Amino acid sequence: MVKERIFSGIQPTGVIHLGNYVGALKNWVALQDEYDCIFSIVDYHAITIEYDVESFRESILNAARTLMACGINPDTCRLFIQSAVPEHTELTWILNCITPLGDLERMTQFKDKSQQHRGNINVGLLDYPVLQAADIVLYKSHVVPVGEDQLQHIELTRRIARRFNNRFGDTFPEPRYLLSHTPKIMGLDGKTKMSKSLNNYIGILEPPDDIWEKLRTSVTDENRKRRNDPGNPEICNLFTMHKSFSSQDDIITINRQCRTAEIGCIECKKKLFENMMRELEPIQQKAAELKKTPDVVYGALAKGARQCREIATRVMEEVRVKVGIRVQRDA
Ligand code: AMP
Ligand code: TRP
Repeated sequence: MVKERIFSGIQPTGVIHLGNYVGALKNWVALQDEYDCIFSIVDYHAITIEYDVESFRESILNAARTLMACGINPDTCRLFIQSAVPEHTELTWILNCITPLGDLERMTQFKDKSQQHRGNINVGLLDYPVLQAADIVLYKSHVVPVGEDQLQHIELTRRIARRFNNRFGDTFPEPRYLLSHTPKIMGLDGKTKMSKSLNNYIGILEPPDDIWEKLRTSVTDENRKRRNDPGNPEICNLFTMHKSFSSQDDIITINRQCRTAEIGCIECKKKLFENMMRELEPIQQKAAELKKTPDVVYGALAKGARQCREIATRVMEEVRVKVGIRVQRDA
């Protein structure tokens, strides 16, 4: 049976944090045998905001190492750097020409980033979702596993694919999104989404002592003012994390103990830390090993890029003919 194709991407900006991990990466790893997977480190997306040229290269490698350490298997999936396949930007131009400006101006991520980067509201920032749509449809992908913040972009990708198909003939599947059980992790302040651009995250490769310090001081259910007040796990970010890191038994117990004030937040955090580190420690070890063997990472990326280029060349040729810019001898 032919497997459905998955495409997803992550920006190599700063470190990979718990939100990325439980919102997306863990799902990528879980899905990689069931689907034909392509995972990309989207460097062209990352340069839409200010970045440091010197450390960018290392950030890209670091992202690749982290993905492999998390369990992305380059023997069964294709792992590659977006800019290694130039068809991504070529297709973006064509999709630009069928995307209404108004659709892009309505994107909440564009509005948020325009607020955060007032001094640098560049065209790339606005066009970001079209590049994302090109990433996905270039491989005729069916499924896109992402965190909740990306749903609007996937919806737009569907509209763009539909518009292309209507205008130029059936070419691209309309991809559907796939969410993890924990598609939105809040930051340590409990108020804003955990994100690389806000200093509210826990990096998955941070030393255990630092992770504990951040967890210890993170905001929980704010209505629970004293140790003996009953808490409400539904509105607590820590409980959301338990859902990703703890066993079913632990989750049930913590839920009850929090509601009845049998345990305080600090005990809940200790349990979470223990369960979290059990999962993160082997990842940290693997990442450290991969750092010592860069050829393994380079090799995986080169292989992924080669395989992706092969698909991209074929699809792009079909697209050029369909939109009428490849004049064929027998046409
Ligand atoms: P980014 O780091 O923006 O490239 O995001 C990579 C993936 O992580 C995307 O699928 C995002 O939706 C997901 N993601 C990022 N931040 C969070 C978060 N706080 N909670 C859940 N998922 C997230
Ligand atoms: N915009 C996505 C994010 O910030 C990253 C991304 C780029 C992506 N291209 C993609 C995700 C294609 C899924 C599919 O998280």
